[in-house]
Amino acid sequence: MLEKSNELAAWDRDHFFHPSTHMGMHARGETPTRVVASGEGVYITDTSGRKSLDAFAGLYCVNVGYGRQKIADAIAEQAKDLAYYHAYVGHGTEASIALSKMIIDRAPAGMSRVYFGLSGSDANETNIKLIWYYNNILGRHDKKKIISRWRGYHGSGVMTGSLTGLALFHNAFDLPRAPILHTEAPYYFRRPDRSMSEEQFSQYCADRLEEMILAEGPETIAAFIGEPILGTGGIVPPPHGYWQKIQAVLDKYDILLVADEVVTGFGRLGTMFGSDHYGMKPDLITIAKGLTSAYAPLSGSIVSEKMWQVLVQGSDKLGAIGHGWTYSAHPICAAAGIANLELIDELGIVENAGATGAYFRSELEKAVGGHRNVGDVRGDGLMAAVEFVENKDDRRFFDAGRKIGPQVAAALLERGIIGRAMPQGDILGFAPATLPDARGGGRHRQGDSGRDRNGLQEHLRRTARMTIPEKMAAVLLTGHGGLDKLIYDREVPVPAPAEGEVLIRVTACGMNNTDVWVRQGAYGTEDDPSAVSTWRRQGNTLTFPRIQGTDTVGHIVGVGTGVDPKRIGQRVMVDFSIYNRDDDSLADIDYMGHGRDGGYAEYMALPAENAHVIATDLTDVELATFCCAYLTGERMLERARLAAGERVLVTGASGGVGSAIIQLARARRAIPIAVAGPGKEAAMLEIGAEAVVTRGKGDLVEAVHSASRGQPIDVVADLVGGPLFNDLLKILRPEGRYTTAGAIAGPVVQLDLRTMYLKQLELHGSSQGSRADFRRLVGYIESRKIRPLVGGVYPLSEFHRAQTDFMAKNFVGKLVVVPDQR
Ligand SMILES: Cc1ncc(COP(=O)(O)O)c(C=O)c1O
Repeated sequence: MLEKSNELAAWDRDHFFHPSTHMGMHARGETPTRVVASGEGVYITDTSGRKSLDAFAGLYCVNVGYGRQKIADAIAEQAKDLAYYHAYVGHGTEASIALSKMIIDRAPAGMSRVYFGLSGSDANETNIKLIWYYNNILGRHDKKKIISRWRGYHGSGVMTGSLTGLALFHNAFDLPRAPILHTEAPYYFRRPDRSMSEEQFSQYCADRLEEMILAEGPETIAAFIGEPILGTGGIVPPPHGYWQKIQAVLDKYDILLVADEVVTGFGRLGTMFGSDHYGMKPDLITIAKGLTSAYAPLSGSIVSEKMWQVLVQGSDKLGAIGHGWTYSAHPICAAAGIANLELIDELGIVENAGATGAYFRSELEKAVGGHRNVGDVRGDGLMAAVEFVENKDDRRFFDAGRKIGPQVAAALLERGIIGRAMPQGDILGFAPATLPDARGGGRHRQGDSGRDRNGLQEHLRRTARMTIPEKMAAVLLTGHGGLDKLIYDREVPVPAPAEGEVLIRVTACGMNNTDVWVRQGAYGTEDDPSAVSTWRRQGNTLTFPRIQGTDTVGHIVGVGTGVDPKRIGQRVMVDFSIYNRDDDSLADIDYMGHGRDGGYAEYMALPAENAHVIATDLTDVELATFCCAYLTGERMLERARLAAGERVLVTGASGGVGSAIIQLARARRAIPIAVAGPGKEAAMLEIGAEAVVTRGKGDLVEAVHSASRGQPIDVVADLVGGPLFNDLLKILRPEGRYTTAGAIAGPVVQLDLRTMYLKQLELHGSSQGSRADFRRLVGYIESRKIRPLVGGVYPLSEFHRAQTDFMAKNFVGKLVVVPDQR
């Protein structure tokens, strides 16, 4: 064995020309040769028997882990049935046709066709040619330049190496070639001016781009290419608002966007595509690695309908498109792609990447974030990086010659873990497999059975259903009462989407007071405030068992009749209201989680019109903090007509609705004053309160008077009620407005009607929000006027613990529940 490996090492040095390798050192045997023999789950083993945890999934590509029997079987069977046929002149194979459909079903909205290649590089070469062809067909013969970014990585060919913005890939190759230009990298950690906020830095990058476009002439700029998150350039997530601001510049000058999703496509960021994740609107998408999890070489250019319509005119003018590869849509690779995408669905790998990634990054931050030579710990989904600096305080970088990054990677490898020393800067990168559990993917796991070979029809049927299981885990409310009425059950039937509905795979669901009150039946009746009751005064719609959960975020995995199947794959935020009317009235309002099942489950069916795609780079957990609380808060302020410059006193300000109101008041340019429990003052100021009054400390009327410096309080937004109520009416100015949507300290209050009529007060009650309120809320999220406050994340199986902590109120903002990893 030893002899054999020595022999292999010698052959390697003498005959093998390795990519991205120091040629001389390797040939002289100064760098170790590692001959990799096998892989299982997240581990690889070399010919000397040494096993390492591959925390970079090869080159961020073996997303489903090594040793997947299902993909191996698919490849073997395809090789036996039909090892090759070309795709020229309209030829296809079952595998290549079915895979095209599977890709488009999962792609962001507006995508139309897939052109297959073998590598990320050739797919980007195809993109460049399609962009030129497109503009020639449109008669825009000067519109040919393509703007890439410094630190972008798009391949190693002549044109794609030019797109790449890393010196190593240009030096001595006479690259970059015209007409490729490079603009600022969205590298917040290395921003030129450290006082810039992320938003300001995003604006700075967009301004640099616009300057370049204007200097070159917009009529010469054809396209902009970018990875949703910079990969090889240092694993750098975009700063807040980056893609929105870049997209606005591109739209302004009619410039195409190419999203290079070679790394991010098929789940790495916790969404099927990074474009969905960051709200990009690409015209072309490059895919490769995750398409087959690198079990076979396959790439693709996904072409939008907008471009396709023009390209088709090209053939009408010029005949067949003169672009093709012998191995395009190779059936063996396509078979691997089908099996891989099926596996991704079956194992819930996309959602897992989001949840595991968040956990991984927070542990990484805890482990090394405080070290004096760690300048930055960053990432998104299952991509993470640690950047080393000589001096943390003045962000001084190490001299490149010291090779600190490679040295740390080598030390890590000695300890059995593979990270990647990124090529430019002292950066250690991680991009592990997106496995459904931390133990790695063994052979013959559930959902890892051999491929069904019933031909194209079977593939298409499976694709449409996105392999949805029959049973799911959910928390069932079985009756009114204590926590024991909530049962975590793993055998609940997955609902079927009815006509006009979608089925989503839930990724996160935020918690709210209404969950507790409905469980306890604590809403009373008009006759008896202590009666065990439903939430609705217009007639009960609550039946048991019921799945609660209002603030649901998930991914569409199935559609009922009448809903466009293209919606499959979209990440959506659920508007949980059941309006029961077509106008904006809330007179007959109900909600999902009460009148029908909500999101404390792995799957949820809901009307398609309530599933909203939000253009934001927030994570699913963050997005799940908004709906019920912020909508309720927005409705309260809307009813009380809170206007710019007015003062609003917010009670219960550290809770979900209260903390939402502070931000929503600021979004209206009003001035919020918070009333919150002791210890929460700093958090209240941080989210935007003008001043904070500590609850239970001295006389409330006086404390508010001094906090507002004697200025009148125009609106009270009250979530506490109970004994405070009369003081709150006292605090209001004449003609002031009181608005409520909850009464945590007691719903039954004493109202002195004389105060109300002599001060000409208005009292408003509301529960959730209208469709118009929801639209405003989406606008605030997309423009980042409000931000998420995640107070904690719990697995669905630990729901009792989550709700116990929720009721104890020792947190600020929102608690979120996520389905357990399977
Ligand atoms: C974003 C991106 N685009 C393109 C490529 C090139 O792909 P390939 O190496 O398959 O040519 C890579 C490779 O890592 C990549 O990360």
